[in-house]
Amino acid sequence: MSGSSQIYRSSTTAPVNIAVIKYWGKRDTALNLPTNSSLSLTLSQKSLRAHTTASCSESFTSPDSLILNGEKEDIQSSKRTQACLKNLRSLREKLEAKDGSLPKLSKLTLRLVSANNFPTAAGLASSAAGFAALVRAIADLYELPQSPEELSIIARQGSGSACRSLMGGFVAWRAGTKEDGSDSLAEEVAPVSHWPEMRALVLVVSAEKKGVSSTAGMQTTVETSTLARARFSEIVPRRMKEIEKAIHEKDFETFARITMQDSNSFHAICLDSWPPIHYMNDVSRAAMNAVETANRKAGKLICAYTFDAGPNAVIYYLEEHTHQAAGVFKSILPRIPGWEGEFGEMIRPNEFGSLEQK
Ligand code: ADP
Ligand code: DP6
Ligand code: CO
Repeated sequence: MSGSSQIYRSSTTAPVNIAVIKYWGKRDTALNLPTNSSLSLTLSQKSLRAHTTASCSESFTSPDSLILNGEKEDIQSSKRTQACLKNLRSLREKLEAKDGSLPKLSKLTLRLVSANNFPTAAGLASSAAGFAALVRAIADLYELPQSPEELSIIARQGSGSACRSLMGGFVAWRAGTKEDGSDSLAEEVAPVSHWPEMRALVLVVSAEKKGVSSTAGMQTTVETSTLARARFSEIVPRRMKEIEKAIHEKDFETFARITMQDSNSFHAICLDSWPPIHYMNDVSRAAMNAVETANRKAGKLICAYTFDAGPNAVIYYLEEHTHQAAGVFKSILPRIPGWEGEFGEMIRPNEFGSLEQK
């Protein structure tokens, strides 16, 4: 193909990540800078992933567009998507300025098509996988040399949690202190191979879109919760150190305790917000009880629950305790409406994964 009809294209998939130390609060809403550091595990793409194709061509009429799960998204009015596109284009422009023989892709209209193979906006980190895939697909299309850490600064501006999905294994998002956000980025704490026995089970309690988006919910919390201040300034910084040590030492009991405490602390500041925000429901609470019972029976912590901004449960455990972890889920399945159909199917063990190019 030649001339104006040529279409440049790149596709990628990106995994979700589920935090054990939660990000919930922005100190700068324009740049998406967090009130605290956070830490997550990147899940296998075999189960949950976003798939994104980025194309550009002289034959595409402006403006840039995104089709998400078959429907047109209004990205023109999304400042955060625009920030990602602007940053990526400007990196491409620099390459084009250095090497005059490169096609001027930075000038062309972008068409993005993305699909998630799991519920969108239901508290299963679709914004994390989605913006990681969007940034990676365009970075590949533009042949950008930037490292995952550098790209994480861009993905963060799309959705905070997305910065952590650009890496596999155990990933920290360092809150940073600079006003321009140049030190607010993701960093690998340990690779998958460090603790390959780690597993996650995802229980889809509800695939419905959450009532309060993460962006809106955390803003309410920052503005109204008095409990949140201690969480930002003391509790999370201490837990970050403790959980990183537990990960390095492969100390599952400490890892499990902090994971459950931090999930509870996050939901506590949601409840302490005004108006209060409720993400968990009776099935979520049954899942917590079942985990606590399994741990009591074992006489030690063998599994840990965590809940994002939605009722869906994620359980972390070590492979040797697969049987007990599966038992937790079986005990609460009958409480999920329609579990024999779609929801039962959604329960899948996850191995770790990292970003793969498809
Ligand atoms: P979740 O808990 O699923 O992360 P959020 O409220 O944080 O829910 O974010 C949901 C929003 O993220 C969607 O409404 C959409 O704007 C964006 N999003 C989700 N998936 C993708 C994707 N694959 N590509 C681009 N944006 C996405
Ligand atoms: C509860 O990253 O979705 O999952 O930056 O506004 O897009 P925005 O929020 P988002 O919030 C995620 C919140 C969380 C905790 C976490 O992933 O750390
Ligand atoms: Co999100």
